[in-house]
Amino acid sequence: MANDIPDAPKRVIFGLSMKLITMIIAMIMVVEVLIYLPSVANFRINWMDDRVHIAGVAAQVIETVPDTMDLTPTMIGKLLSSAEAEALVVRTEGQSQLIERPDVPMPVAAYAADTRERAPLDLIAGALEILFFGSNRTMRVIGVPMDSQDVVVEVLINEALLRQELLIYSRNIFWLSLLVASFTSFAIFLFLNGLLVRPISRLTSNMVAFRQNPDDANKIIVPSDRRDEVGVAERELAAMETNIFTLLKQKQHLADLGLAVAKINHDLRNTLGAAQLLSDQVANLDDPHVQRLAPRLVNTLDRAINFCQSVLDYGRHKAVPPKFERVDLRALLDESATEAAVRMHPEIDWRNQVPDNVIIRVDPDQIARVFTNLFKNAREALEVQHRQDGERPWVAVELETTPDQLRLTVEDNGPGLSPRAKDNLFRAFEGSGRAGGTGLGLAIAKELAEAHGGTLAYVDVQKGTKFEISLPR
Ligand SMILES: Nc1ncnc2c1ncn2[C@@H]1O[C@H](COP(=O)(O)OP(=O)(O)OP(=O)(O)O)[C@@H](O)[C@H]1O
Ligand SMILES: [Mg+2]
Repeated sequence: MANDIPDAPKRVIFGLSMKLITMIIAMIMVVEVLIYLPSVANFRINWMDDRVHIAGVAAQVIETVPDTMDLTPTMIGKLLSSAEAEALVVRTEGQSQLIERPDVPMPVAAYAADTRERAPLDLIAGALEILFFGSNRTMRVIGVPMDSQDVVVEVLINEALLRQELLIYSRNIFWLSLLVASFTSFAIFLFLNGLLVRPISRLTSNMVAFRQNPDDANKIIVPSDRRDEVGVAERELAAMETNIFTLLKQKQHLADLGLAVAKINHDLRNTLGAAQLLSDQVANLDDPHVQRLAPRLVNTLDRAINFCQSVLDYGRHKAVPPKFERVDLRALLDESATEAAVRMHPEIDWRNQVPDNVIIRVDPDQIARVFTNLFKNAREALEVQHRQDGERPWVAVELETTPDQLRLTVEDNGPGLSPRAKDNLFRAFEGSGRAGGTGLGLAIAKELAEAHGGTLAYVDVQKGTKFEISLPR
């Protein structure tokens, strides 16, 4: 048994569990990035809004002072630093007022960020720009402070301040996401693992174990009472394994029986052989009684020996796959007819109607055996027939080709199949309708034709017998 089993399957390295957990983590990460982008953009715009509002308040404070000149540098410094600004410009109805520290030179803004424009993609791009390329540049944040439609404030701020806060915010989000992702993926994993992965692993390891030892009934899976697809798979597998187990046992019994038959047969043939020797000697005696009976005795023994021989041959005959070769069909048919003693027969006409140079790809030995069996049957039927019609007996082969098939018919004008032969056609040991026949010829012929991907079938005709063999081209 062990020889029929292919090697054990390779060990699963990147199994379902690993795939599952990797996929869950990757998916959660993708989702988190999708959530992170808008939230970081939101953080930046809120931060800038805050600065604009504080600047707006500062501007109002300054407005209440009658003369700006009265403000001390310390007060200006305090007002500006409350908005973390280096300077600010307040524009109202065409007038603009610059508030700056008298002691520090006014910085030059590298770029402007207008909080009045809030296209989502621009906001995300702005946040990423600061995160990845931000340094120590001064930015000009433009906006409208709360409750004041006609005032526009421009705040000059060092971008490093914003960047620092964005980094802290991102870092927090990152850790939080990681925590959430780990918990979620672990929970999903536990769930799916119990639901799918473990039952599937159980199925696969059972398949492997059973295939390595299919005649051990303990290896047949015991299905759980799950009612879902996994349950169906378990039950079907159990049924299949039980079937295989039973079939194997049956096959073993048959093989044992076959072996016994072969042994008996072998001994029988040898004993018959000894009897044949004796009968040959008896046939040489002068006694007229003996002379009359001896041929029948010899014949009977011959038949018995032939029978034993063909049963032994059938037992030895293994289903070997055909070895394909290019052969000339007409020549192959002539050869088979000679072998079956149909060609050059004193009474039977051999009609090979296949044209020359039809080359086919078959196993010549096997296909010749198919034809020989058919021709031999025809000859045997023709030889024992008592003809009344005065027609000469003949065996004919014809060829018909279709784009994908070669169709050959083997026909004779003999007595036709007996009812018994018809009922058991192609069944080994059962199909014989003639004395001394084993009933193997047609069964073997059909098997061989099918091994070539072809068919062998009986064609019902009015007179005689006709078989059709089709072979793929
Ligand atoms: N051309 C034919 N004409 C009449 N009867 C046939 C013809 N071919 C087959 N048969 C019948 O079919 C039966 C089965 O044929 P098959 O070749 O399988 O076995 P067999 O000839 O009896 O034995 P084996 O070929 O094994 O020696 C034959 O016994 C015969 O009765
Ligand atoms: Mg035969």
